[in-house]
Amino acid sequence: MIDRRSIMKRGMWSAIACATSGPMRALATEDDMATFIAALPKAEYHVHLEGTLEAEMKFALAKRNGLNLPFADVAAMKASYTYHDLPSFLAIYYDGMKVLLKEADFYDLTFAYLKKAASQNILYAEMFFDPQEHLKRGVPMTAVIGGISRARVDAEKAFGIRSQAILCFVRDLPADTAMAALDAALPMKDQLIGVGMDSDEKGHPPIKFRSHIATARANGLHITAHCDVNQLHTLEHIRQAIFDLQVDRIDHGGNILQSPELVESAKALNIPFTVCPTFSGAVKDAEGEPIDVVRGMLDAGLAITISSDDPAYMGSEYLNDVLVRAQQRSRLTKAELVLMSRNAFNAAWLPREQKAAYLAKLDAFAKSWKL
Ligand code: ADE
Ligand code: ZN
Repeated sequence: MIDRRSIMKRGMWSAIACATSGPMRALATEDDMATFIAALPKAEYHVHLEGTLEAEMKFALAKRNGLNLPFADVAAMKASYTYHDLPSFLAIYYDGMKVLLKEADFYDLTFAYLKKAASQNILYAEMFFDPQEHLKRGVPMTAVIGGISRARVDAEKAFGIRSQAILCFVRDLPADTAMAALDAALPMKDQLIGVGMDSDEKGHPPIKFRSHIATARANGLHITAHCDVNQLHTLEHIRQAIFDLQVDRIDHGGNILQSPELVESAKALNIPFTVCPTFSGAVKDAEGEPIDVVRGMLDAGLAITISSDDPAYMGSEYLNDVLVRAQQRSRLTKAELVLMSRNAFNAAWLPREQKAAYLAKLDAFAKSWKL
């Protein structure tokens, strides 16, 4: 039976935890981290919509679009998700998204992610998408952005979750195709909040997109950039992102720990980092010893937030699962978990008063846990 007294004691947020985290055993111990994480009001900024394309949905969309997939079933498809570095991951990820052809496909993909996110008490999300890959297959930009936008509206109505979309430049495709994607998207710029850059950065430094970034900024869009961990010239890429492109945010960026100067700059400029421990958990120090990225960046005083990246390809672990693992691995305290959610809401590309409303919810949650 649900212990009502413990709900009363924990306050409203615990009641929500009970409703959202499901298992009744979560209520059994007062000090249950999983319950705390489930109830924590969260925002997520580093999630690739195409990376939320679950195998089950891939089969459903392939059927709807009359495509054959080279896998007998969901289990066989999931078993093929083995990768050892960024390029081998990206090959699987790009192959998987070929089932996305129609506006309704982008709608279903986005709606499913937002439904899942809302169930994990994510109040607000900024989501990446990779239009160059879709344009290559002849999918019009109106179908991509139209489907995403329609799902955002419906998900907010259905689940209360707010979201915005970030157009990513696929770094290893020619720069002119990135500009063509931006040009095609700009008539719908009111449906976008920012631009980013992802994919394989080897030989594709941030400054490859200098003019794209200038155009995006001139159109009122925010700027972020992936600096995946342990990539060639990673510190130079982080430097370019901060100083040459003057990004508003960095995605991953864990190797910054290898440069005290860059750490100081990022702190002085208050640049938020979207860290995805599932994919980018460790970098090496000067002696070649592994440093835990989350712990290292927190201790360095960087404004980090935690995200799930490509959950469908990472064991279907969405943000709460990622946080539970990160808490254990990086020995995160509840106060640190609240701090990272605070960093996230502070980093939202939203008007000040809307951020303040989310921060007030977080403060109420923290207070109810006596933090
Ligand atoms: N595309 C999807 N996920 C990515 C990641 N983590 N890094 C670079 N490109 C990506
Ligand atoms: Zn990413």
